[in-house]
Amino acid sequence: MHLQWYPGHMTKAKRMMQENIKLIDLVIELVDARVPVSSRNPDIDELGKNKARLVLLNKSDLAEEKWNDAWAEYFKEKGFSVVKVNSKKGGGIKSIQGVIREACKEKIERDRKRGILNRPVRAMVVGIPNVGKSTFINALAGKACAKTGNKPGVTKGKQWIRLNKQVELLDTPGILWPKFEDQEVGLKLAFIGSIKDEVIQTEELATELIKFLGQYYKEVLPEKYNVTMNEDPYVVLNDIAKNRNCVLRGSEPDTEKAAQLLLDDFRNGRLGRLTLEYSQELE
Ligand code: G4P
Repeated sequence: MHLQWYPGHMTKAKRMMQENIKLIDLVIELVDARVPVSSRNPDIDELGKNKARLVLLNKSDLAEEKWNDAWAEYFKEKGFSVVKVNSKKGGGIKSIQGVIREACKEKIERDRKRGILNRPVRAMVVGIPNVGKSTFINALAGKACAKTGNKPGVTKGKQWIRLNKQVELLDTPGILWPKFEDQEVGLKLAFIGSIKDEVIQTEELATELIKFLGQYYKEVLPEKYNVTMNEDPYVVLNDIAKNRNCVLRGSEPDTEKAAQLLLDDFRNGRLGRLTLEYSQELE
């Protein structure tokens, strides 16, 4: 299999970020806690150099807690401030303002020495599509001031959201497209729905997910769909179709429908909390 990915709007989004980075003190980078490395874009380190950095392990409710903790340690060791968050339910959000101040304390101190007092810290939220940037901004700002959705460039002009006297947030999130040469990274991004389903056929993607689960989470599919794991993932997909009444005319199993069901269940956390990459793999 060969995944190819040609993102649109890449240049425009990157330009927007390059223009705005001058104005900000802190880069808040969202990653998906299920794939904390694959969901990063390497350009961010270049873009955010000389800035304070905060990594948010978002969707932490969908990933295993022990791995969330291990990943938080991993990023801390690299010198980032880190918070585990669930932007959808508000988990971890309360601590963010304090962490922002802490991450920017050197800059605040520099300002103070120059006699600049009470200048708010300015932050920009960045991340790949669908990682939860807009949901996070809404949760942090406490009201729906940022538009949720996947459309780049929905907000025209620069707008700052004043969180309080000390912190301001650029209300346009910086959209970074995922970058990968490694096919496995591409697959993981497709599993979580960050690259579009058109890039890879639904059934093929579902069988890859079945293979992955067979390796790391053997119990999940038998428990959820009452199927037996098999070397051949198509057999498992067929059984999921049968057990979930996904049938075509003539009682043929509708594997396409079963594949979509499996992917939706995975993406919405209905298969439980699953982490797809492990910090020890990177040691
Ligand atoms: P983006 O701006 O980075 O593109 O992402 P956005 O906020 O639009 O969020 C993408 C999807 O991820 C949304 O789901 C959102 O609800 C979900 N999401 C964001 N943060 C979290 C989180 O911490 N935990 C969980 N479980 N989900 C999160 P959607 O299906 O597109 O919309 P909806 O049905 O939730 O409204």
